[in-house]
Amino acid sequence: MLVLGIETSCDETSCAIVRDGHEILSHVVTSQIDLHKEFGGVVPELACRRHVETVLPVVEAALKNGGLELEQIDLIAVAQGPGLAGALLIGINAAKTLAWVAQKPLIGVNHIEAHLYAALMTLEKPPLFPCLGAVLSGGHTSLVLIEEIGRYKLLGQTVDDAIGEAYDKVAKILGLSYPGGPEVEKLALEGDPNTYNFKAGNVKGRPFDFSFSGLKTAVLYAARGPKSHPQMNSYIDPLVKPHLAASFQEAALKDVAKKIGAAADAYHCQTVVFGGGVCSNQRLRSLFQNDSKHTYVWPPKEMCVDNAAMIAGLGYHRYKTAQAGDFLTMEAATTMPFSCSMG
Ligand code: KG4
Ligand code: ZN
Repeated sequence: MLVLGIETSCDETSCAIVRDGHEILSHVVTSQIDLHKEFGGVVPELACRRHVETVLPVVEAALKNGGLELEQIDLIAVAQGPGLAGALLIGINAAKTLAWVAQKPLIGVNHIEAHLYAALMTLEKPPLFPCLGAVLSGGHTSLVLIEEIGRYKLLGQTVDDAIGEAYDKVAKILGLSYPGGPEVEKLALEGDPNTYNFKAGNVKGRPFDFSFSGLKTAVLYAARGPKSHPQMNSYIDPLVKPHLAASFQEAALKDVAKKIGAAADAYHCQTVVFGGGVCSNQRLRSLFQNDSKHTYVWPPKEMCVDNAAMIAGLGYHRYKTAQAGDFLTMEAATTMPFSCSMG
């Protein structure tokens, strides 16, 4: 079954053609980083305009690269949410139009669920379920129990900033460019993680929830003095910046690693599956490398970021399970709770 997937939930416009949920025949990802860099973050209105210009050329390129015509596609899958409302709508309307013109079924996919599927689709055979899923992205930080593909239980999530968002905000404080994650990781290599005693937050009675907003503020105060404001562009000694970056990163990633380990044990998960942009971080990967108790499944680096291959791959499974597509009246879901998209 050939599935054409479309992803436009934030600042990547992407289209992929995937056979039977795992074989990527063609994959085009265009990033908008150049557009948003000068603002230090994604500007929704600009993102939407760029998606409008890019979505059809990206679909055409994906078909051409795969040597395929639209008529040969069996199913159109699209990221339905969560994401930026306007951005999602552009992908959804493109997908609806293609489905209508070619008279093919349409299926909406949960973007966060797809981030986990990005790692799963690389496996030769499915992991032993249940396994633990960790979504670490710019918009989400969630731990989920994967009972099987399509059946999940939310175990915990961030109560404030997502981990990638914390990286981006700390990067801004340190005067680094957007997106901040890779920049902070690079700078941290030159710093001593033990310089500052930063800590990520815990949520009382919810051992698998996260909180990174206090950590980000602690970095701000350590960098610019107590009670300083993120908008104040005060001077930070360049010599301390690597230490701030390293100490922040260590606190954030050790918190994630500790909670992942505890959740895997509590729910008897032998395998942990990762997804989301932060998973390309080498320090994060290294924190798990000496643990032989669990198997860790990482997405390939190019599939950590938003991409349409994960949408097409998961769309195949959703369609197989439902034995039907969605209606053409399907709408964007800006907040699509993880556990809700699946029964
Ligand atoms: O999954 P993603 O592409 O978009 C969302 O769905 O949110 O993730 C983007 C996020 C950004 O916050 C970016 O700073 C972060 O992932 N990121 C990283 C790294 N590469 C990207 N964070 C830490 N270390 C990295 N190497
Ligand atoms: Zn994403």
